[in-house]
Amino acid sequence: MALLDVTDLTVSFDTPDGVVKAVNGMNLTLNAGDSLAIVGESGSGKTQLAFAILGLLAKNGTAAGSVRFDGQEILNLPEAKLNAIRANEIAMIFQDPMTSLNPFMRVGDQMAEVLMLHKGTSKRQALDESAKMLDAVRIPDARARLRMYPHEFSGGMRQRIMAAMALLCRPKLLIADEPTTALDVTVQNQIMNLMAEIQRDFGTALILITHDLAIVAGSCLETLVMYGGRVMEIGATDDVFEAPSHPYTLGLLKAVPRLDVPQDKLQTIPGDPPDLTALPPGCPFSPRCPASHEPCLQAMPSLEGFGTGRIRACHAALEAVV
Ligand SMILES: Nc1ncnc2c1ncn2[C@@H]1O[C@H](COP(=O)(O)OP(=O)(O)OP(=O)(O)O)[C@@H](O)[C@H]1O
Ligand SMILES: [Mg+2]
Repeated sequence: MALLDVTDLTVSFDTPDGVVKAVNGMNLTLNAGDSLAIVGESGSGKTQLAFAILGLLAKNGTAAGSVRFDGQEILNLPEAKLNAIRANEIAMIFQDPMTSLNPFMRVGDQMAEVLMLHKGTSKRQALDESAKMLDAVRIPDARARLRMYPHEFSGGMRQRIMAAMALLCRPKLLIADEPTTALDVTVQNQIMNLMAEIQRDFGTALILITHDLAIVAGSCLETLVMYGGRVMEIGATDDVFEAPSHPYTLGLLKAVPRLDVPQDKLQTIPGDPPDLTALPPGCPFSPRCPASHEPCLQAMPSLEGFGTGRIRACHAALEAVV
C-alpha cells in the first residue's frame, strides 16, 4: 500500500474575478521512504497541492478528489482529525521560517510545545528531545541554544530549527516547500544535504517543492513536473533531467543557469503562465509550447506510462521532445 495516494485532486478558489483553478486533477503516489521533487514555475499550484493535502487551504478554497494517507482518506477531514495527523504523521516545512516560528518564544519552548501537544510528553522530556533533535540537524551547542529566540539564529539555522521541529514527532512524510529559497547557495547545499540525511536516518518520505531545478538533482530520486495545476511528467530524477519527455520540462531545463553556458544564451520559456480563471480546454501549456498542434488545443492529454516507470501527459511524439 502506498503511503500517499493523491487521485484527481482539484483545488479552486472563489475570487471576485472568477474561480481560480489552482490544481486541476493531480495524481501522484508516494511509497514509504520515497523522495519526490515537485517542480514548476511560480503559480503552477505546488503550494496549494501541499496545502490541500494538509487541509491548510485559505477560506475561499475548496478541494475535491481523494488524498489517501496510510490507507485513510484525509481530504477535507474535520480540523480535529487533521490536527492529529499534522506534525504527527505529515509535517511541513514552509518557505519562510520566520512566519512559522514565534519571534517572542524561546526556540526550546516552541519545540517542546509540539511534543507536549501532540505526544503528551512532559516538559522536561520534551526539552531533552528537542535538544537531541537540534543536535541531529547540526545546531552546535544545542542544549544552550534552546534558551535563545529565533532572531538570535542565522537564516540557515532557523531553517534547520524548522526541520528539527518538523521531525520531532517522527512523521512518516515531510513536505518541504521551497526550504532553501531565501538562503545563499552554500547554506542551500547544507540544508539539502540535511534533507537527504533526514530521509536516510529517519526513513521519512519526502516531498520537496521547488522552482529551483538546480537543487533537485541529487536530492530526490523522483521528480514530478507540474504546470497549470497538472502533472506534465513524472520519472526518476536522472531520467527526467537527461531525457525530458515533455516540452515544458525541456523549457525549464534550458532556463537553468549553467556555468558552461553564457548568461545571454539562457533560454527562458516564451509567453506567460496560464490564466487560472480561464484555462484552455486542451493542454494548459499549449499556448507556449513549440510542439503544440491540433490535438493539444482540443483535449488535455491523459497520463501515459513509457520507459521504466516514467509517466507523461503530452500529445507530441516523444521523439519531437528529446
Ligand atoms: N486564496 C487564494 N485565492 C485565490 N487564488 C489563490 C489563493 N491562493 C493561491 N491562489 C492562486 O493559486 C495559484 C497557485 O498558487 P501556488 O501558491 O500553489 O503556486 P506555487 O506553484 O506554489 O508558486 P510559487 O513557486 O510562486 O510558490 C496561483 O495563481 C495563486 O495566485
Ligand atoms: Mg509556492
